[in-house]
Amino acid sequence: MQTQAGHQATDIKPTADTVDIHEFRLALAQFATGITVVTACGPEGRRVGVTANSFNSVSLHPPLVLWSLANKSSSLGTFQACTHYAVNILTADQQALATHFATHIGDKFEGLDFDTGLGGCVLLKDCLASFECINRSRYQEGDHTILVGEVVNFKYQSGDPLVYHARQYFNGLKA
Ligand SMILES: Cc1cc2nc3c(=O)[nH]c(=O)nc-3n(C[C@H](O)[C@H](O)[C@H](O)COP(=O)(O)O)c2cc1C
Repeated sequence: MQTQAGHQATDIKPTADTVDIHEFRLALAQFATGITVVTACGPEGRRVGVTANSFNSVSLHPPLVLWSLANKSSSLGTFQACTHYAVNILTADQQALATHFATHIGDKFEGLDFDTGLGGCVLLKDCLASFECINRSRYQEGDHTILVGEVVNFKYQSGDPLVYHARQYFNGLKA
C-alpha cells in the first residue's frame, strides 16, 4: 500500500525530456557513497536482499532513514509487503557481498552465514553497522520507490567502509 502522508508534489513542469540520462548518471556517480545491503522477508517467507547506495539519514527524532529501490526490481513486492527490513553497511572487506547482492539470482542467501532480525530480515555478519527498521512509508517517484524506515534496533563497530565513486569500489577512506 502506498503511503502518501506528508507527500507534497510540485506543479512545476518537468524537465525530464531535456535531460541526457547517460550524462545525468555520470554526474550522479560523482557523489561518493558507502554501500549497503538491504534485506527483508515477505509474509510468505521469501527472503530478499539488494545492494543499495541510495541510503541516507532522514530524522533523529523519530529515528528515520531512507533508501530507494527501482520499480523494476524483483524484490519490490517483498519490500512493499514486509513489516521490517534491515540496512547493512558494508566494510572495506565486503566488496564480494556488494557484487553478490547486486546480481539478480534466485536465493541470494544460500551458503551465507547471517543472523535473523525483526520480521525475518537478514543481519549480515561483520558489517560496519546494521539498522533494523519498521517499514514505515513508501513513496513512488519516477522509476524508483523511496522507502522510509523507522529504526528500532541498530549496532555498529569501527572500521573501514566500502566506498563507491564513479562506478568503482574503494576499500576504505585512508589514502
Ligand atoms: C554499487 C551499487 C549500488 C546500487 N544501488 C541501488 C539502489 O540504491 N537502488 C536500487 O534499486 N538498485 C541499486 N543497485 C542495483 C541493485 O543492487 C540490483 O539491481 C539488484 O540486482 C536488485 O536485486 P533484484 O533484481 O534481485 O531485486 C545498486 C547496484 C550497485 C552495484
